[in-house]
Amino acid sequence: MLLKSLISVAKGEPVQKTPIWFMRQAGRYLPEYRKIRQQQKDFIQFVLNSEAAAEVTLQPLKRFDLNGAIIFSDILMVPYAMGVDVKFVESIGPVITPVKEALDISMDRQLEIYAKINKSISLVAAEIKQKDVAMIGFAGSPWTVMCYMIEGTISKNFQKVRSFYLSNPSEWDRIVQQLVDSTILYLSGQIEAGAEVVKLFDSWAGAVPHRDFERMIINPTKQITSAIKAKYPNIPIIGFPRGAGLMYVDYAKKSGVDVLAVDQNIPVTWAKNNLQSVIALQGNMDNMVLAYADDQINDSVKEIMNGLGGNRLIFNLGHGILPETKIDNVFHTIDSVRKYEGTS
Ligand code: CP3
Repeated sequence: MLLKSLISVAKGEPVQKTPIWFMRQAGRYLPEYRKIRQQQKDFIQFVLNSEAAAEVTLQPLKRFDLNGAIIFSDILMVPYAMGVDVKFVESIGPVITPVKEALDISMDRQLEIYAKINKSISLVAAEIKQKDVAMIGFAGSPWTVMCYMIEGTISKNFQKVRSFYLSNPSEWDRIVQQLVDSTILYLSGQIEAGAEVVKLFDSWAGAVPHRDFERMIINPTKQITSAIKAKYPNIPIIGFPRGAGLMYVDYAKKSGVDVLAVDQNIPVTWAKNNLQSVIALQGNMDNMVLAYADDQINDSVKEIMNGLGGNRLIFNLGHGILPETKIDNVFHTIDSVRKYEGTS
């Protein structure tokens, strides 16, 4: 059986080439994405259209030599499946009716919605079976999903979500438990459908004070990784507690993930000394260098490959590709990684 490079790194096995993929690699920087998006006006219905979702997942792979295909979906599909009122509004982003108490969840609704995303995964997985491209499933981590569920949209100061857990801890725990359970159901289905690795996005981990980090970030993540590992011991898990800073060390040791995705604020030498000695890493090129500074791409690649390259790195960005990103810069970055390691 073909051992895919991304999976090998996640399992601590040696690789010939550094696996490369980009967060948000399917998206608005691609004209072919924008074209389908024009026809698919409603983002949620777009995600639930398995054929369309599979097509956009494969779009970046047709252009670039990438080693991962992340399924086209969104972290907010979990609250949507749990019955939360979630909408995506053009030029605003997600808009949600804020949740105030534990949800009345319909198992049928969850299964029906998750089945559509699982179908997109099986369509993509069939296409990439024989290639060095790993099928990546994902979900949001409970803290980050709670940020949207409680705040109702992208927050600036996280006051609503933080005041909720500080002033109403028991209701908070009930909702988080519902999210944990639904996320385990969701990821299990993705794995059954063909996901070879799963990633937990905790995009707002940086908003949690260190005293609350264990309770808000590590514990719910650990519940999910333990349940997935118990059922699927061979499926690696990537964790991305973006902005966690020093707390990345705790996360690496305690969350139960196999790969730690690091953001672009973490210095490469610090990551090498404090994190890569514990765990395989993914990251961490600056997404704005990719978008706006073609002349800095080689240096940036060199710094990351020098510091972290070898058998314990999945090359990626420190945050998702911006819609403004030039396609040529993506080619340039991939080329630069391959030239650096002499595998082009
Ligand atoms: O290519 C991929 O990486 C897979 C698809 C993917 C999307 N969202 C599609 C999407 C993934 C992995 C996500 C994760 C996601 N969604 C996160 C975590 C990663 C991160 O960026 O921090 C978060 C916080 C969300 C929530 C979300 N979805 C927001 C805040 C927005 C609006 C901002 C924006 O970029 O438009 C979205 C919308 C969204 N999710 C788009 C895409 C391609 C853009 C929708 C469009 O086409 O208009």
